[in-house]
Amino acid sequence: MIIGVPQEIKTHEYRVALTPWGARALTRAGHKVLVQAGAGAGSGMPDEDYAAGGAAIVTGAEELWQRAEMILKVKEPQPVEVQRARPGQVLFTYFHFAADRELTLGLRDSGAHCFAYETLEVDGHLPLLTPMSEVAGRMAVQEGARFLERPFGGSGVLLSGLPGVEPGQVLILGGGTVGTNAAWIAAGMGARVTILDIDLERLRHLEEVMPDNVTTVYSTEEAIEERLDRTDLLIGAVLIPGARTPRLVRREHLSRMRPGSVIVDVAVDQGGCVETCRPTTHEEPTFVVDGVVHYCVANMPGAVARTSTFGLTNATLPWILRLAALGPKRAVEGDPALRTAANILGGHITHPAVAAAFDLPAEAPEEAAAALA
Ligand SMILES: NC(=O)c1ccc[n+]([C@@H]2O[C@H](COP(=O)([O-])OP(=O)(O)OC[C@H]3O[C@@H](n4cnc5c(N)ncnc54)[C@H](O)[C@@H]3O)[C@@H](O)[C@H]2O)c1
Repeated sequence: MIIGVPQEIKTHEYRVALTPWGARALTRAGHKVLVQAGAGAGSGMPDEDYAAGGAAIVTGAEELWQRAEMILKVKEPQPVEVQRARPGQVLFTYFHFAADRELTLGLRDSGAHCFAYETLEVDGHLPLLTPMSEVAGRMAVQEGARFLERPFGGSGVLLSGLPGVEPGQVLILGGGTVGTNAAWIAAGMGARVTILDIDLERLRHLEEVMPDNVTTVYSTEEAIEERLDRTDLLIGAVLIPGARTPRLVRREHLSRMRPGSVIVDVAVDQGGCVETCRPTTHEEPTFVVDGVVHYCVANMPGAVARTSTFGLTNATLPWILRLAALGPKRAVEGDPALRTAANILGGHITHPAVAAAFDLPAEAPEEAAAALA
């Protein structure tokens, strides 16, 4: 198969869908890899490294989209890319279709086959979402610590404390992938960490594996409220799959927090677990409400592009290899995990949640695949 890797064009997106090592693995498997010139630059991966891995460097995005039978990306296709997609072409990327009607209809009408990283499911897990949650969780503490610094508008608390000075307090709402990764980093810095969750099994597991400066607490409104006056950094990491994030911290709660305390609401992409949260960008990551600094960047991993690109390719490469070997029809018919990734096939929406989001008809992926050549 001819596999194309364009440069990402969304503002402040520095990741790329494939590392040079990934390009080598694909060429070794007999595929032809086309990489747009400069596609890896934002992740510190120069064209020469891709060429050394057997990829051909293509100058323009237009030519790459025309020649490639499968396009690998990171972010959802932007309007100009939707126009480039053509019938029978396979697109493998994060789409988040349910959030964007225009994108859904544009790609349905393009006749391309859209396989989404975010819905690929194995044993109830979403393995292509996990690495980005790991990055965001780890980064949440790094960014929180930065914005606690006085010059950035923070209260001037050093999370580790000092000999003779108490460490900072970190409150984490949600002990899933983001919350666990945040807790590891905050605990490693020496902060006092509390994780709240409603899943008792999860809390049991965390209690066993976390160091002594991490406490687990069952999540209730009262449990959150009574801790806010001691919280220097609050991290929002709650997820209820398929639903809007519950608003666990309301505006009236903010006055309980010390001025300059910081909220990093990682769950902003699902609406956020803090009422006053609204999406921000890396250009202007924070805003202040009632004296509390809010960091609500919706694509946190884009800022640590190099690490994120490695993390993403580690997770996607086995599936890219499988999809390229099978092609879209056999992938849907014979591979249950790739079938869960199929969101649109040749003009038909094949993921029930995407169809439901816009009140459109859904076709079973197997049926849509049966009609493919
Ligand atoms: N901003 C970004 O750049 C970025 C990057 C990656 C992930 N995310 C988002 O971060 C969020 C968390 O992702 P994840 O991978 O950790 O999800 P996850 O499913 O692994 O964890 C979510 C946890 O929230 C818990 N939870 C549910 N209701 C709760 C409540 N009322 N109180 C406390 N905990 C509760 C669940 O039991 C679960 O353990 C998601 O919204 C995800 O989309 C954002």
